[in-house]
Amino acid sequence: MARKIVVTSGKGGVGKTTVAAFLSAQLARRGQRVILCDADFGLNNVDVVTGVENLVTYDVVDAIEGRCRAKQALVRHPDFANLYILTSSHSAPERYVSPQSLRLVIDALAPQFDFVFIDCPAGIDDGFHRAVACAEEAIVVTTPHVSAIRDADKVITLLKSYEFENVSVVVNKLRGDLLVAGESLSPPEISELLKSRLLGVLPEEYGIFGGELSDIHPAFKMLAGNLLSGKRKLYDVTKKYSGVLGGIRRFLKKSL
Ligand SMILES: Nc1ncnc2c1ncn2[C@@H]1O[C@H](COP(=O)(O)OP(=O)(O)O)[C@@H](O)[C@H]1O
Ligand SMILES: [Mg+2]
Repeated sequence: MARKIVVTSGKGGVGKTTVAAFLSAQLARRGQRVILCDADFGLNNVDVVTGVENLVTYDVVDAIEGRCRAKQALVRHPDFANLYILTSSHSAPERYVSPQSLRLVIDALAPQFDFVFIDCPAGIDDGFHRAVACAEEAIVVTTPHVSAIRDADKVITLLKSYEFENVSVVVNKLRGDLLVAGESLSPPEISELLKSRLLGVLPEEYGIFGGELSDIHPAFKMLAGNLLSGKRKLYDVTKKYSGVLGGIRRFLKKSL
């Protein structure tokens, strides 16, 4: 039976979809059977981020409304054999999807998989509750910015009523140069502010996480390892910025 994990944040643009997609790819590469479900019915983009937008025949709304079986709505990723994408609302963008109906589709598929990641929309209204209602665990994504941390805190409070087995935090878009310069909140500080355990940290690296889906980044390897083992190894985002070479990198980044 799959672990059903919602990836949420409150605030938009912090990296929920990126984290859900790259983590899914990472686990699939390790032989885990993974479903990545797009539960963002407004600004759905999991198909684009994973590069399967031209391979979609059926989406989750087709499965909910009986135009196909749940399994037929899964899009197999061409590069990651164990990764299946459940896309949202290509067929009926305006259709209302109830939490129960989405949950039924996910529960029908879960026994044959190891992980189901549910990519949550931004905000804390209906879309949030619909996504969360399908899960048993949560990953809350934040950045080191105060506004994102505040939203993450609200979300963590809301999640309490769901009595999840496991709620952990991923700090995304961390900047090693700012951390070394003391200009960014550190992972332990963020963990303390949110009174939650960190599952992992990810550096801000444009070009890598904005590009093609891959499983090569060491920070994602660590994150996937933590999720599988229950350990909490944190990727060191400052490594690149310490020592003489690091000083030069910091200087260059500042003058950009
Ligand atoms: N660690 C990162 N480094 C650089 N860019 C990132 C990182 N994580 C996400 N992004 C970029 O930030 C933007 C928002 O990410 P996305 O995953 O769509 O956020 P959300 O799903 O929370 O709205 C995207 O353009 C994505 O490529
Ligand atoms: Mg998103």
